Amino acid sequence: MDPRKNPFAPGAGTKPPALVGRDDQIESFDVLLERLENGYAEQSMIITGLRGVGKTVLLEVFREKAEAREWATVEWEVEKNSPFSSKMASQVRRALLQLAPKARWTNRLARAASILKSFTLTFNPDGAMTAGLDIDALVGVGDSGTLSEDLTDLFVATGEAAREQQTGVIFLLDEIQYLRPAELEALIAALHRCARRSLPITLVGAGLPQIPRLAGEAKSYSERLFRFPVIGELDAKTDARDALVLPARDLGVEFESDAIDLIVDYTQGYPYFLQEYGKIVWDESPTSPISRIDTRSVLPLVEAKLDESFFRVRAERTTELELRYLFAMAELGPQAHRASEVARGIDRTTEQAGPVRSRLIDKGLLYTPGHGYAAFTVPQFDRYLLRRHSDLAGAPE
Ligand SMILES: Nc1ncnc2c1ncn2[C@@H]1O[C@H](COP(=O)(O)OP(=O)(O)OP(=O)(O)O)[C@@H](O)[C@H]1O
Ligand SMILES: [Mg+2]
Repeated sequence: MDPRKNPFAPGAGTKPPALVGRDDQIESFDVLLERLENGYAEQSMIITGLRGVGKTVLLEVFREKAEAREWATVEWEVEKNSPFSSKMASQVRRALLQLAPKARWTNRLARAASILKSFTLTFNPDGAMTAGLDIDALVGVGDSGTLSEDLTDLFVATGEAAREQQTGVIFLLDEIQYLRPAELEALIAALHRCARRSLPITLVGAGLPQIPRLAGEAKSYSERLFRFPVIGELDAKTDARDALVLPARDLGVEFESDAIDLIVDYTQGYPYFLQEYGKIVWDESPTSPISRIDTRSVLPLVEAKLDESFFRVRAERTTELELRYLFAMAELGPQAHRASEVARGIDRTTEQAGPVRSRLIDKGLLYTPGHGYAAFTVPQFDRYLLRRHSDLAGAPE
């Protein structure tokens, strides 16, 4: 088929041609905005899921929806060990300028900007970010030096300014598991105060599956503040098929039913894998309908592409010992495994293997679904490791 017309969209945060299976989350988001606009409190949400399931795409949809309702929206992908307070300050600055251009700032907006100045002087005195704000700091607010208190002052003032402008402010934070505990705690505390006052300022996040636990450890009330919808594989009978069929059909191309079965089986309905398979089989198939034979014959290409684009970068971020740990896990199967069992696989005690396991969690390659257990954050990582790193099987010390 003509590659120029190929509708499939494998990539990080690349919008799929048919966004399927996420109606519930999108509906919840609409409800959230509408309730906040009307002065009702509403639980916010943090979308959780494995790598490549569509978290970033969903945040992008949320951003578009919030913008269509004229909310001030700020998007931010948290990076590991990146400075939090200066980034937060620049995001709040953007939000204030979206609420109204500076020439039209009301007293409330100017007050929020003064608190932002205090916040910036407190946490990054030499930050250049206040350049252009041209406003005095407000002494005694947002300048205590305690992050959660000062962020709360900043959020409350911003929320009040948004309410006065009859709109709202939304922070869309991706990779939220990379916030440090104190930063997550400060954010939760600030949002909690705003929720208690029914202010139209909220945060919708996305992250790896450990985030509900991290949030719970940061503040016990985080479960009342957030819902943590889990997104994952698309339903094999409906959504996963639609993800392939609908975009192709729009362009007059059909899939034979058993071709779809093969793709859905192989990908297990994981969104990123579906896009990658769809893209390749489209390019390589001579005519419509795309048959099972077409589909089967490109499988090695698909696998090679996934290894290159999705798995290898992750495996490359590990040390040799870490890779052996992952391989030992893979040998045990795709599900979560006990730390003790994996340690045995690399001939170590649980205590000896503890630091390796922690580093893998820290790098975002593993998460802990329950006490003493760890699982891969990358779907089908076990399969990848077994096929590409078979040299590690029974490797000596
Ligand atoms: N609902 C969906 N239906 C079909 N394809 C989807 C859907 N959601 C996402 N995709 C596709 O899956 C791929 C991965 O999406 P995205 O980057 O949003 O995942 P992610 O969860 O943010 O992954 P990561 O954890 O690696 O950041 C993209 O190619 C996207 O087009
Ligand atoms: Mg993402």
